[in-house]
Amino acid sequence: MGISEQVAETLLQAARQAAENAYAPYSQFPVGAALLTAQGDVISGVNVENASFGLTICAERTAVAKAVSEGKRRFQAIAVWASKRPHGSVTPCGACRQVLAEFLEPDSPVIMADNATGQIKLLTMKALLPEAFGPGTVPDGNFPDTDNSKPDD
Ligand code: THU
Repeated sequence: MGISEQVAETLLQAARQAAENAYAPYSQFPVGAALLTAQGDVISGVNVENASFGLTICAERTAVAKAVSEGKRRFQAIAVWASKRPHGSVTPCGACRQVLAEFLEPDSPVIMADNATGQIKLLTMKALLPEAFGPGTVPDGNFPDTDNSKPDD
C-alpha cells in the first residue's frame, strides 16, 4: 500500500519524537520507530538497551510488540529515526527485518531519513529482505491478515 509523502513525514516525526524516550546508555545511539496501523493509528517504539548487551531490543521490535499487544497486526508502513546517524540513513537491523516481514506486506514502505540529502528515503520491505522466510513459508501458518481471531478488525 502506498502512502503520501506527507504521511511519511508525519510518521518520521513520530519516530523522531519517540527517540527522545530511547534507553540507550551503552551505545548512546537513541532510535525511534513509528508504525502506521491499517486503521491509521501510530504506534511508536524505542530501543531498550541492557547491561547484558545482547538483550537489547531495537526500536522497531519494541513498536511491533507494543502494537501486537494492543491488538494491531496489520500495518501500512514503519518509520525509523536515529538521532545520531553519522552518515546516510539507519536501516533496520537483520533481526528487525525478519520481525517486520512477519507483519508488513512485501510492498510496505520502510521510511527513513537520508541524512546525506535531508530527504525522506523509502525502501520496501521486500527490498530490505528479499526472498524472505515468512508466515507463508510455514505450512498451515496463519498469516497475520487471515487469522480469524485477529483483533484489529
Ligand atoms: N538499533 C535500533 O534500535 N534500530 C535499528 O534499526 C538499528 C539499531 C539500536 C540497537 C542499539 O540499542 C543501538 O541502536 C546501537 O546499535
